[in-house]
Amino acid sequence: MPLQRIQQMSQHGHTHHIYLDNSATTAPYTEVILCMGELMCDTYGNPSSSHSAGRAAKVKVEESRRSISEILRCTPSEVFFTSGGTESDNTVLRSAVEMGVRHIISSPTEHHAITATLKAIEASNAVKLPQNRVRVDYVKINQYGDVDMDDLEHLLCQSSEKTLVSLMHGNNEIGNIYDINAIGSLCHSHGALYHSDAVQTMGHFSFDLKNMDVDFLSASAHKFHGPKGIGLLYCKAGTNLPSFILGGMQERGMRSGTENVPAISGMALAMQINQKHQDEDLVKILSLKKSLIDSLREIKGIRFNGRCTQEDSMPTLVSVTLPIKKDSGMTLLALDMAGVCVSAGSACMAGAWQPSGVITALYGENDPMSDCPTIRFSMCKYNTEEEIDTAVQAVKNIL
Ligand SMILES: Cc1ncc(COP(=O)(O)O)c(C=O)c1O
Repeated sequence: MPLQRIQQMSQHGHTHHIYLDNSATTAPYTEVILCMGELMCDTYGNPSSSHSAGRAAKVKVEESRRSISEILRCTPSEVFFTSGGTESDNTVLRSAVEMGVRHIISSPTEHHAITATLKAIEASNAVKLPQNRVRVDYVKINQYGDVDMDDLEHLLCQSSEKTLVSLMHGNNEIGNIYDINAIGSLCHSHGALYHSDAVQTMGHFSFDLKNMDVDFLSASAHKFHGPKGIGLLYCKAGTNLPSFILGGMQERGMRSGTENVPAISGMALAMQINQKHQDEDLVKILSLKKSLIDSLREIKGIRFNGRCTQEDSMPTLVSVTLPIKKDSGMTLLALDMAGVCVSAGSACMAGAWQPSGVITALYGENDPMSDCPTIRFSMCKYNTEEEIDTAVQAVKNIL
């Protein structure tokens, strides 16, 4: 593929549409694409091989780990490469159970990578001895998606067994940001471990993990202009999570499997670029978000979901429910035909669109807008004010 096309793709996504679905995935940076291509050509050795080609690949993996740990302010030995957010989330829950955790507290607003794994853990209780069964509790949340900290404390107080709390950092559907340190210090004061799914925030925000009250964090490179299929799990020193995947002893025996060297390097590079431009990117994205909210507010009867209009929410995301009785699928299709790519806050089940678990957790089963479409707009620095105007106009045309 010619270099010019790579640059065009990376900086503007696919130029024939307006891409406002950056919480689903982002366009990889040109530099990331080029770096990965180069590594695939030149550094294809297996990092486990002892010859020079293998050693060269190993150097790339360890350089990336060091660079990422410097950005996150932790030690390289606390960073484990995985295939992405889903694997990191699954791993931490399942390995915690293997480590003796018998009580897990989470929330109905978590990503499916957490809620589906918790359902599977609960289902497996049926075939376990009573002493090995795992109790799963969901903390109460209010109609804005805030975690009820009193309820969390109440659940922690009830816990006499080894406990893990899994509560995310940035919500992928409604944009709420949860206070990792407040949740973590409450968990730690009750002797519980704390995991946070930071898939929507890591790579965008500053982390100072050495001074943060968190034991495990999940992240995924494709959410911050890195490649797909690569992510990480941060495990604080001393947490001693057992091996996730057994085999050739890669990742210090924790996560076996030949390392994806180009993707690992691509992830590290994307993080470096983000860190360098973090402040200016934030200003730009916040200004786009303000314009989007202001224009959407002109629509009578529109509902903004969660805390997405507040200053302390994710800068990239706005979730709204539109005041029309229309299928979410049809709404997305109409926007797509107008050249606007967004996501629905609903899932298609057996041919019918149902509000997502997160939207239901906020408004309950009797939500008066349950048959109205929920749309998630998610931006990145490559979007423009004109794109925002066109997207809102497309929504107004549908109404
Ligand atoms: C909050 C959150 N957790 C986990 C995931 C899964 O990450 P991945 O796509 O890397 O498996 C996502 C992806 O949408 C997410 O938004």
